[in-house]
Amino acid sequence: MRLIVVSNRVACPKGDEPVEGGLAAALVPAVKTSGAIWVGSSRQRTAASEKEGFAQMEPLGRGAVVTVGIPNEQFGGFYEGFANSALWPAFHSRTDLIRTKVEHYVSYREVNALIARPLLRLARPDAMFWVHDYHFLTMASELRKLGIAQPIGFFFHTPFPSRDIILSLPYHGELIQAMLSYDLIGFQTDADLENFADYLQQELGLAGSDNVFTTNHGTTRLASFPIGIDVEHFAEQANQSATRPEATRLRSSLQGSKLVIGVDRVDYSKGLVNRLRAFDRLLQNQPALKRAVTFLQIGVPSRGKIPVYRQLQAELASLVGDINGRHSEVDWSPIRYLNKGFSRTTLAGFYRAAHVGLVTSLYDGMNLVAKEYVAAQNPLDPGVLVLSRFAGAAKQLDAALVVNPHDIDGVARAIVQALAMPLEERRERWQGMMETLRSSSLDIWFSDFISNLAECPRAGRSTWTPDVGAAAVRARQLELTVNP
Ligand code: F6P
Repeated sequence: MRLIVVSNRVACPKGDEPVEGGLAAALVPAVKTSGAIWVGSSRQRTAASEKEGFAQMEPLGRGAVVTVGIPNEQFGGFYEGFANSALWPAFHSRTDLIRTKVEHYVSYREVNALIARPLLRLARPDAMFWVHDYHFLTMASELRKLGIAQPIGFFFHTPFPSRDIILSLPYHGELIQAMLSYDLIGFQTDADLENFADYLQQELGLAGSDNVFTTNHGTTRLASFPIGIDVEHFAEQANQSATRPEATRLRSSLQGSKLVIGVDRVDYSKGLVNRLRAFDRLLQNQPALKRAVTFLQIGVPSRGKIPVYRQLQAELASLVGDINGRHSEVDWSPIRYLNKGFSRTTLAGFYRAAHVGLVTSLYDGMNLVAKEYVAAQNPLDPGVLVLSRFAGAAKQLDAALVVNPHDIDGVARAIVQALAMPLEERRERWQGMMETLRSSSLDIWFSDFISNLAECPRAGRSTWTPDVGAAAVRARQLELTVNP
């Protein structure tokens, strides 16, 4: 069997290089061991990619990473314009932040079609395709138009919110209809799956049975597969990294104060403003904790061409300055705010050095930082995870201190409780969470999805789709421009 994995962002890290984003970080080890071909987008369109479709191909463990060149102009409409200014805010329940136009939608559809074309060359009879994330909702429909009848699966790394939220997304009907060309659609949680099924039933009038929907496209099955991490490997990395220079420098710089850590992309879905406010509240309410606690927030800059991301970046910088200005002493500052990424090994060592891991997402598909924080702990003296109830991880890690990130006082109280938690309780909670992590590891996620996809019928899958397709979307837009 040949497995072809498709996602917008791909990574082929050399040595200990940082990998951006949870999806890419999860797929690197999975591709390495499974031998899959991992196809993604690259902004550069070279002469070779014009001809061949593929811009570059590099080995990754037993597998390989391939990029498809996309012209810059089209990439902007696809990535910043539609994927991250329409789909991302909608899937994270921030409909107020949807800003898009038809040109962006056209680029989105065209990039899906453009990446689908070279995949045809990989479509051996025994091939299976696994498409990831909101960038490629219409990929299966484009592949079917090219005659591909092999199994195609899709996994939502983001949440899938309730129907009334999805109704605010421009072109939602076309997009979800096109998704019926997938044989299997995977979700992080049962709640996401139920929202999607509700949309199919109420908006598209489909009657499913046991999460299986049969239409003129063929049969689409919905199932949840909570994504995991490579627990033992990450724990080992944390153990080794604890004595490396970065972690040693961090620990000795704390001068005895306890460390609270947060690691995120700078994104409005992560609840970073609330998190800083909660830490500020903690210092206001418990001045005795000054000097006894330090907060390290790593905020990796993200999607900087989109105004709302730049505004958030500025707001956070100003808030950190304000809080530090009010609480600092000449030899102590409460918050260390770093706008850069670190390698996974270094992060593992930082997590292990932290007494509290803080995840305050307002809405999050899973949040792998929460899982990595737990896996990185010293079994003899584990730290405490404070976890938003709105991260998918909270459905599994209920032994964390689960908080409502909108309740600033509640988050502040949870941090205080975490800092003071007795060793016995910390161990008990940590052991419970480790059992959960082991029973839903990255390997299990990957092989569960693949074995479910392999069960999808190969023969008889109709390649017919009522979806309009990228070319028709472009033609429709031109018609509108010519005859306004
Ligand atoms: O599902 C969301 C996701 O793909 C994450 O895996 C990752 O953290 C993020 O989005 C990456 O976003 P970007 O590729 O825009 O940096």
